Amino acid sequence: MTNKWSKAGLAAGALALLLLAGCRQDMHDQPKYIPLRESRFFADGQSARQPVEHAVARGHLQADKYFYTGKIGDGFGNDLPQGLLKEGYGLKDLLHRGQGRFNIYCAPCHAQIGNGNGAVALRGFQKMPASFHDPRLKAQNLGYFFDVMTNGFGAMLNYKAQIPPEDRWAIAAYIRALQLSQDATLADVPESEREHIKDPMTSKPGSPAPAKAEPKKGGAH
Ligand code: HEC
Repeated sequence: MTNKWSKAGLAAGALALLLLAGCRQDMHDQPKYIPLRESRFFADGQSARQPVEHAVARGHLQADKYFYTGKIGDGFGNDLPQGLLKEGYGLKDLLHRGQGRFNIYCAPCHAQIGNGNGAVALRGFQKMPASFHDPRLKAQNLGYFFDVMTNGFGAMLNYKAQIPPEDRWAIAAYIRALQLSQDATLADVPESEREHIKDPMTSKPGSPAPAKAEPKKGGAH
């Protein structure tokens, strides 16, 4: 009796093996969608699913409106956004950063001094940019410069893709520093700092330019 059962068992096992061999699935042939392949499962026929409505990609939550637009209501703000300056990254670091970015991205047209006589503009860009030292632009809030970089202005394309927002703010701050630099007087400098300013003609601290320029000595920086 036991012998008979085990024979039947063997036969069933062998049959199962034979049948299963026909169901083999190789790894190179997997039940998965490759990109852009159509689907017969989803009603819209697309295998790629749309993100849920209002989903925000990681790192793309632009909750701080001012940081991303420079706007307060319909107007432009004149402050640096909160959180831009951090410990170990003060205003001076921001201005240095802005100077570097400005000289790379803006100076070709606006010139390093910001008067609009950059090499590209002089060679005939569609339009000459206005000088940043024009009273109209000196009166603009910081957010305005941020906005021009973000959205462009007339013939000037925007720099949204090339320059991340924190650098756009650094450039805006540097433009303000450039504007201040062009009509600063000695009186604008705190008395304690005046001795560090060297007269470009004499390299002497704080002295007005002499009638006759002395030969420039080395190490004037
Ligand atoms: C390819 C040349 C070019 C580059 C590079 C460029 N600009 Fe301009 N920019 C212009 C021109 C031209 C105008 C004037 C556009 C117009 O009036 O239609 C302008 C205008 C401006 C204005 C003035 C808007 C006004 O109210 O008159 C600002 C501010 C400005 N640019 C900032 C920047 C900054 C900041 C950068 C660097 C991130 C930059 N631009 C890079 C060509 C350039």
